[in-house]
Amino acid sequence: MQDQASRLREIINQKRIFNNSIAEKSRETTPSARIICVTSGKGGVGKTNFTLNLAIALSKQNKKVVVIDADLGLANVDIVLGVLPKYTLLNVIRGDKELDEVMVTGPNGIKIISGGSGLLDLIDMSQQQITNLIDKFEAINEYADIILIDTGAGLSKSVLSFVLAAHEVIVVCTPEPTAITDAYAMIKTIGLNDKGKQLKLLVNRAESINEGKMTYEKLKNASDKFLNVKLEKLGYLMEDVHVSRSVKLQQPFVIQFPNSPVSKNIELIANKLTNDQIENDVEQTTKGFFNKVISLFR
Ligand SMILES: Nc1ncnc2c1ncn2[C@@H]1O[C@H](COP(=O)(O)OP(=O)(O)O)[C@@H](O)[C@H]1O
Ligand SMILES: [Mg+2]
Repeated sequence: MQDQASRLREIINQKRIFNNSIAEKSRETTPSARIICVTSGKGGVGKTNFTLNLAIALSKQNKKVVVIDADLGLANVDIVLGVLPKYTLLNVIRGDKELDEVMVTGPNGIKIISGGSGLLDLIDMSQQQITNLIDKFEAINEYADIILIDTGAGLSKSVLSFVLAAHEVIVVCTPEPTAITDAYAMIKTIGLNDKGKQLKLLVNRAESINEGKMTYEKLKNASDKFLNVKLEKLGYLMEDVHVSRSVKLQQPFVIQFPNSPVSKNIELIANKLTNDQIENDVEQTTKGFFNKVISLFR
């Protein structure tokens, strides 16, 4: 009897060790999420609304999505969503919190991490602190198949650190000449640093498909001719009153107005992005990415 009980315990123990080692392995091999930076030359062109609604559209395809609000100047993912994060990346950087403690759950299960002004603290950190921090970032892969980063606008160091570190960048632009000029400056800067990047243009606030197309072609032709940079077409979002209505309601338009033109546009773009991934699977580890962001930033 005694013998049987102790054998049972032994079996249970072995099973536990076995299960733990499986859990250990799966943690080690959690694949790195796909990282996409969303940026623009000019501010106010619709990055935040696009990023959040795209995140929700992707989550509807059963993708796990984490949005990082890295716009240091005008961080406003939380305002658009009406969710207030208690902690930001600053808490992780300072070591007060783990990554999962600063994540807020948004609509349809998307996770949001607010950058706060945390990045500025990186400048004073030792190499050991940086290494520890980057190890912590690795945990993000448990929550994300896709990480969307709202980087903010313009050619500042913080924006460029993210943009130059990522393999995939979406530049948001509107048909206004000022937005086009500023988008061109962004594309030029990216091209001077990295010709091989997957660079995609999203034209927002187009009054017609034709206007969207013209805007894309202007930038594509100039990028081809003067920069030798390949600019892919991601798609167009129509000028649509449902965007500002949803901002006022602090509800994403893909949830509040799923049948609006702009929601249909977002759906198409989400499909395109997931299909693109099947075509050219880019390998970028989250560790490699965050390492690069931090070294560019410092
Ligand atoms: N497709 C659109 N149609 C109509 N208005 C839009 C559209 N996209 C953005 N806007 C307006 O532009 C404002 C700024 O958008 P936002 O996403 O905050 O820009 P950014 O993050 O680039 O600064 C929104 O509050 C909304 O009023
Ligand atoms: Mg914004």
